Amino acid sequence: MATTSTLLLISSLLHHFIILLLLLPYQQNPLTLAAAGGGEWKLLVSNTGVSAMHMQLLNNDRVVIFDLTDFGPSNISLPNGKCRNNPKDLTLKIDCTAHSIEYDVASNSIRPLNVFTNVWCSSGAAMPDGSLVQTGGFNDGERNARVFKPCRDNSCDWQEFNTVLTQSRWYATNHILPDGRQIIVGGRGRLTYEFYPKRTGADASYNLPFLSQTNDPRIENNLYPFVFLNVDGNLFIFANNRAILFDYVNGAVVKTYPTIPGGDPRSYPSSGSAVLLPVRNLQGRTNITAEVLVCGGAPKGSFTSANNGKFVGALNTCGRIQITDPNPQWVMETMPSARVMGDMVFAT
Ligand SMILES: *[C@@H]1O[C@H](CO)[C@@H](O)[C@H](O)[C@H]1NC(C)=O
Ligand SMILES: *[C@@H]1O[C@H](CO)[C@@H](O)[C@H](O)[C@H]1NC(C)=O
Repeated sequence: MATTSTLLLISSLLHHFIILLLLLPYQQNPLTLAAAGGGEWKLLVSNTGVSAMHMQLLNNDRVVIFDLTDFGPSNISLPNGKCRNNPKDLTLKIDCTAHSIEYDVASNSIRPLNVFTNVWCSSGAAMPDGSLVQTGGFNDGERNARVFKPCRDNSCDWQEFNTVLTQSRWYATNHILPDGRQIIVGGRGRLTYEFYPKRTGADASYNLPFLSQTNDPRIENNLYPFVFLNVDGNLFIFANNRAILFDYVNGAVVKTYPTIPGGDPRSYPSSGSAVLLPVRNLQGRTNITAEVLVCGGAPKGSFTSANNGKFVGALNTCGRIQITDPNPQWVMETMPSARVMGDMVFAT
């Protein structure tokens, strides 16, 4: 169910080229795979032309990849000699290269796509029909939504909707809700949340004081918050070093979780990662429990010390918390290595 697609890789300005590598099983025996002996690495595409600052697997086994748009040309041309003519682009107003591609796993091929406004550090989620909705970003993209509806005949492309957010959203987090809308939480200088698509009538941005409480002045650490839908219908929202359980229907905090032991920041720019672990007791429907795992990040003060040329190591700890527990407590574990800007996916 978790579909947040904010996958931010290291500065794409330095990495215009990515290499797409997939683990190809040569035997279908799951036991062989489980023993990690049944696969090999193969280079599938040596140059995708666009780096995967953001990447989302779609329901048709294709992966949509997109990068910021205003660093100049990418390494893949738009099809049929088309050019993007965007007077608001900060670097190249007429740009004949693509800043998004679709990778088709089955045919091992890539297809350039048109993304018009700047998706740099935007956020998104997949909708119930499989469409990826990506909102916000930088510059001309900060209040836009873009929709990519998967197709099999190579006819689909990004659709752009201008100025549909009530506030600009840069480094926000999106999460799909049971009613089919998305909630968009936070972003730089945005201590609020809003929904997309909008309902007719008043559909504003709403204050979320937790985001100001977790904002470290001039450092932030409350960006790209970790958001998960709990089994009780409330949202678990983690920013910086702590979390709340939030009733987004009534705009009320229903639970405040303890600060993660050590108190070090885990969200952007400290950039740990988080995942909702398998929900237990779903069959019996009694005592359903849900647990969140948060791993990596950066020690308190490391942002300031990095600006002064002193670089400290990332965190090697993970915290697990049962978010359904009436008296929730963090359980700490140590990873074999420290991790920052990682990403976790729960694999079944
Ligand atoms: C991509 O890079 C290669 C190698 O530098 C170059 O030959 C090619 O023209 C580039 N393509 C585009 C569209 O920039
Ligand atoms: C519910 O689950 C928790 C943790 O899995 C367990 O500690 C507790 O005893 C369970 N309660 C009931 C009533 O089964």
